Formats: sequence, C-alpha cells, structure tokens
Amino acid sequence: MNIKVGIITASDKGYAGERKDESGPEIKRIVEEKGYEVIAAKICSDDIDMLKEALIDFSDHVGCDLILTTGGTGFTPRDNTPEATMAVVEKLTPGFGEAMRAESMKITPRGMLSRATSGIRGRTLIINLPGSVKAARECLNAVIDALGHAVEMINGGGECASRFNEKK
Ligand code: MTE
Repeated sequence: MNIKVGIITASDKGYAGERKDESGPEIKRIVEEKGYEVIAAKICSDDIDMLKEALIDFSDHVGCDLILTTGGTGFTPRDNTPEATMAVVEKLTPGFGEAMRAESMKITPRGMLSRATSGIRGRTLIINLPGSVKAARECLNAVIDALGHAVEMINGGGECASRFNEKK
C-alpha cells in the first residue's frame, strides 16, 4: 500500500528561521526508506491555532494517510502539539504513545517527558513525535512497523491475520 505522509515540524525557532529543521528531514528519510511517499511538509510555530490549521489542511485537503508531527510535546508553556492534535481528531489511538514512551524509557528516563499523543481524523492517522532528531528517530522507529496495518484498517481493510494464531 502506498502511504501518503505529511510532516509538520512544530518549532517557534524553526518557524522564525532561527534554527534549521533537522527532525523533519530525518523523519522523511526514515519513512521513504520504508517505501512511503512524503507529499507535504511544513514548519509551523508552536501556536495552537496554526498547528490545528495545518493538521486539518494536511488531512482534509492534501489527503495524507499519515501525518507525523515533530516537536512541541514537552512541558513548556509553548508546547501545544498534543492539544492541537486532540482538538482535531475524532478518535484517540493511545497505543502509539504507549509504545513510544515504553521504548524511550529503555533509552532515557526523560522519555516520560514527552506528552506525544495520536488519533484519527477522517481517514488520516496523526502521530506526534518529540522534537529532537534523536528523540523523533527513536520514537518513530518504535511504531513504524505497525503503521501500514494501521492505515489499512483506517481505510476499512486489512485482515488481522494474527488473531487466528492466538492461543486459546
Ligand atoms: N524520547 C526519546 N526516545 N529520546 C529522547 O531523547 N527526549 C525527551 C522526550 N522523549 C527523548 C524522548 C525530552 S528531554 C523531552 S523534553 C520530551 O521528549 C519532549 O520533547 P519536545 O518538547 O521536543 O517534543
């Protein structure tokens, strides 16, 4: 399945041109290696309304199957990405955050400081990743093998074959 991906970098400094966005390009590299197609990418400030607008645009108009955000998941007053995400999704998908934090905690206790969330808007899966290149890479790698099946299911398909292998 060809998965169309949008990448949104949330960063006041990146938006102001004061910091180079390295996490967006790294996410692009990883998903392209997996065979997905990046059809849109954008740097937003940490403003909640700007983030909501970009999420709605990428899902409703650009037609992304998957939106990966990076940044704005921490505890500072300007970290708004989970709130923007929760405001635009219809269903929450907690498994991704659970998996990311579980894997992150094996690497650093600071893994618990990401409030990354995820959910489904229409036929688009939105997943938050933390902002640093290292954290974004580690968290994306924690969930990437489930993304193909997740997108298939959102589109009404995909057989959960493993259910037939379960031991009674
Ligand atoms: N997760 C992983 N795997 N590796 C990391 O280095 N850094 C943490 C956390 N999650 C980290 C991580 C830190 S220090 C912070 S502050 C939060 O992600 C939030 O990052 P953000 O505000 O850039 O989104």
